[in-house]
Amino acid sequence: MSAILSVTGIDQQFGGLHALKNVTFDVEEKEILGVIGPNGAGKSTLFNALVNVTPPLAGRVLLGGTDISDMRTHEIGQAGLVKTSQTVQVFGEMSVLDNVSIATFNRTTSLAESRDMAEEILEYWGMTHAMHRPADGLTLAQRSTLELARATALDPKVMLIDEVMAGLNAAEVDLMLDRLRRLNAEKGTTLVIIEHNMKAIMGISDRILALEYGELVALDDPISVSRNPRVVEAYLGA
Ligand SMILES: Nc1ncnc2c1ncn2[C@@H]1O[C@H](COP(=O)(O)OP(=O)(O)O)[C@@H](O)[C@H]1O
Ligand SMILES: [Mg+2]
Repeated sequence: MSAILSVTGIDQQFGGLHALKNVTFDVEEKEILGVIGPNGAGKSTLFNALVNVTPPLAGRVLLGGTDISDMRTHEIGQAGLVKTSQTVQVFGEMSVLDNVSIATFNRTTSLAESRDMAEEILEYWGMTHAMHRPADGLTLAQRSTLELARATALDPKVMLIDEVMAGLNAAEVDLMLDRLRRLNAEKGTTLVIIEHNMKAIMGISDRILALEYGELVALDDPISVSRNPRVVEAYLGA
């Protein structure tokens, strides 16, 4: 195994708040890495730093050995690192198909080809039946799936997924977990997943990274992390 994503010394401050403190870790190729931590720990801030949505004050990010730290978000996406947001962002009045076509149009100059690619992606994600519906008419689970589908349009090497299971019921969570496992197994996409649902994240992850007050406090297999005193304390305190 080799590191597909190498993160070194990420620091972030907002005014007097030290939101990320020298965060350093590697993600292995084809790994599923879970990211946990109490509300406000800095999980979303970390993702925003990695793709320069909110550039960090310090630190470097290597993707497959290439330094992407100074690239713009869309260039980082083209290079193979994409992020899905905690709040699902779709164009409500547009059809599901058009929502994905916008993303696939980054890979081709042909409108027809971008639609074909979008249809293929929607089929992969089990969304063909909803293809011509306006995105506004989707259930929360379908919108989350659409957000993931759009993120795969660039055929990323690594996906950063921020709480895509929030608000879903148990059956929808199970379906989402199946789809993420399948994406990882079939396409070899490396996944970094922020998730509050402990059962879900412990079950799907190869390793778990725990953040607390902007500091990496644990990075180990799920069982070891769930027994880590600092992690137990943070969750009991929260
Ligand atoms: N753009 C920003 N400006 C100021 N403070 C921010 C900004 N983004 C996040 N924060 C603060 O940084 C801390 C970490 O937030 P966040 O990364 O969203 O936590 P998490 O995702 O772990 O719940 C919080 O105290 C939050 O209020
Ligand atoms: Mg968050």
